Amino acid sequence: MRPLPIDQGTVLIIGAAQGMGRELARLLARRVRTLVLVDRQAQALEPLRDELLLNYPTLGVLVESCDVCEPQQVDTLLSSLDAQFVRVDVLVNNAAEGAPGLYAQEDWARVEAMLRANVWVPALLTHRLLGPMLERGRGGILNIGSGAAQLILPGSATFAASQRFLDGFTEALRLEVEGRGVTVTRVAPGPLWLEGAEDDAATAPFFPLSLERCAREALAGFERGEALVYPGLGHRWVMRLMPLLPRSLKRSLGRMALRGLQREQLRLPRQAPPMLQLPGEPSPM
Ligand SMILES: NC(=O)c1ccc[n+]([C@@H]2O[C@H](COP(=O)([O-])OP(=O)(O)OC[C@H]3O[C@@H](n4cnc5c(N)ncnc54)[C@H](OP(=O)(O)O)[C@@H]3O)[C@@H](O)[C@H]2O)c1
Repeated sequence: MRPLPIDQGTVLIIGAAQGMGRELARLLARRVRTLVLVDRQAQALEPLRDELLLNYPTLGVLVESCDVCEPQQVDTLLSSLDAQFVRVDVLVNNAAEGAPGLYAQEDWARVEAMLRANVWVPALLTHRLLGPMLERGRGGILNIGSGAAQLILPGSATFAASQRFLDGFTEALRLEVEGRGVTVTRVAPGPLWLEGAEDDAATAPFFPLSLERCAREALAGFERGEALVYPGLGHRWVMRLMPLLPRSLKRSLGRMALRGLQREQLRLPRQAPPMLQLPGEPSPM
């Protein structure tokens, strides 16, 4: 297998201003020639650009403001890169939307935004950038997904289903590009420690993993050409065991998760109406 064009290459990261995208940028900065950092607001990327240039003065850093859910903005972004003769060697599809809520009670606008960010965006960007990578015979697509693809997750129906899209998309693409110098990898973390969270246990109750370690394992797996990376030892084992469980057991686990979510909603202040109500249970109001 040919090495990925990370060293001295150009990597485009979508959603680089914070979280996983920012950690990946920090790790890649010491190796690549150019980082293209994309987020909705360019100002949000400026602290990261300043930090990277301070630590790596020879690094090329392009900061691009783009809402990748907007087709015209994607066109403008890609035209701007063309005009600057920037050739993307590696695309990191990292921006995603996801917040819990019962499907029937969701705003359609929120559902649509989730489908756009989690399905339409990686499909479009990959479609636009994969062809040139194949022509050059080198490149990579790193899809940051979630372990939710493996679970039955009431309260996150659209999110979990969108993660299954990324799973099927990645696996099929890998076969289509096999032997042509392009690697396609999906990373499927569990919940991560979020910076600034008062209670780590609340953001990552099981197998807590730092963003930094998650990003490091993601890149290592990508460079090894793996199809799927489950960062963190505990999470990796749970995810590997999941396909062995009968679907009926997965449904029972899903029901338990829903009850937990409902209890959490009940603990919210009275003015925030609980979103979650189990079928057949009295309204918590
Ligand atoms: N954090 C976790 O616990 C966790 C667990 C498993 C998987 N993941 C996956 O890891 C990835 C990153 O998650 P994260 O928690 O690091 O995210 P995050 O902290 O919310 O950061 C995402 C970044 O992407 C930007 N973004 C979102 N939509 C965008 C759009 N349409 N156009 C341009 N930029 C956009 C966001 O900007 P705005 O602030 O303006 O929205 C934000 O700066 C996601 O794919 C997620 O599914 C995360």
